[in-house]
Amino acid sequence: MSATVSSQRVLSGMRPTGHLHLGHYHGVLKNWVKLQHEYECQFFVADWHALTTEYENPQTIENNVWDMVIDWLAAGVSPSAATIFVQSQVPEHAELHLLLSMITPLGWLERVPTYKDQQDKLKEKDLATYGFLGYPLLQAADILVYRAGLVPVGADQVAHVEITREVARRFNHLYGREPGFEEAVAVAVRKMGKKASRIYQDLRRKYQEQGDHTALETAKALVMDQQNITLGDRERLLGDLEGGGKVILPEPQSLLTPASRMPGLDGQKMSKSYGNYISMREEPAEVERKIRSMPTDPARVRRNDPGTPEKCPVWELHKVYSEEETKAWVYEGCTSGGIGCLDCKKPIVEAVQEELEPIRKRAEEHERNPDLVRSIIAEGNDTARERARATLKEVRSAMGLSYR
Ligand code: TRP
Ligand code: SF4
Repeated sequence: MSATVSSQRVLSGMRPTGHLHLGHYHGVLKNWVKLQHEYECQFFVADWHALTTEYENPQTIENNVWDMVIDWLAAGVSPSAATIFVQSQVPEHAELHLLLSMITPLGWLERVPTYKDQQDKLKEKDLATYGFLGYPLLQAADILVYRAGLVPVGADQVAHVEITREVARRFNHLYGREPGFEEAVAVAVRKMGKKASRIYQDLRRKYQEQGDHTALETAKALVMDQQNITLGDRERLLGDLEGGGKVILPEPQSLLTPASRMPGLDGQKMSKSYGNYISMREEPAEVERKIRSMPTDPARVRRNDPGTPEKCPVWELHKVYSEEETKAWVYEGCTSGGIGCLDCKKPIVEAVQEELEPIRKRAEEHERNPDLVRSIIAEGNDTARERARATLKEVRSAMGLSYR
């Protein structure tokens, strides 16, 4: 990774799908809540990305945005720990997308696996559009406009972070050599002092002539340690080390979200389209009804028929929610026919109720107070815009669009 000043900035987005369910909570939101205390985090609603597939019914998007943001807040994503905003309210994403489109070879976009996959999967929609082809590039702009270092995503999105890295590399290669770059580097090297600059030159040579990656890492660490150089110097030196120019858009890394196959009520992955979900704001009576009507191992016709937990979706939920002791009780009781399926479901009902109670409460508070939700987003939009503006200023100037 190109070390940069922003490498600790985390950014992630979600398309506005409306109410979220336990799959989103366990798969994504719990991770965001944890990350917001460890890094500077930005989480945003990717409403333009939603338009790439929903351009025929844009009216649904707005309500989905608010419903989803309320679920984020209900899960514990906190505006005091993270910046929460809406993509379309920060037009810099679109400007960077446009500028990056100038240097992005069509083949890169056509080769992204999700392009053909999603077209095949969503056959009823006409996705032979310019916007849909550009989906990953818009995502690249989302990331690069904040110079985010880490992007928490699921495995299906890793290819999009990869193309982001390629686009950033190409951008830096094309525009990172400001006029006078070599001279500026020489000045920065001198500022490091005699000893450090000699070590720097040695390490740089070892990397560039012999491909010694340890030397590169050591040199980067040396640069990061320097107290006497400016941030601009630091970026120039990091660029100089790798033989490119100044790093204007640092390459991000994906932070693979720990795989959580939150099982649904029928044992398949929990998903809105399968109708096998419990939503984050599900009423207690509904939670109970849904769990009690879950299918179980079909071998258990009568209460004392022995069963096999591995053939039962309820067992999958015990793996998520239950302590070892409870799981041992289930295993023994199921295989011996000692417990009934409703007995077995009881601890799950209780665990889900306990998990959802504070979430539902926080969601209700926000539902009652839409102005608060709007002001949280308005503030997040402002913060995001300010950061994005700073990047665009540099990008425009690097591309010869300053006009001042
Ligand atoms: N494409 C992502 C998804 O469907 C959402 C997204 C848009 C995103 N822009 C992003 C995720 C930037 C991470 C970073 O899940
Ligand atoms: Fe499933 Fe539990 Fe019934 Fe066994 S006892 S079949 S694990 S619900």
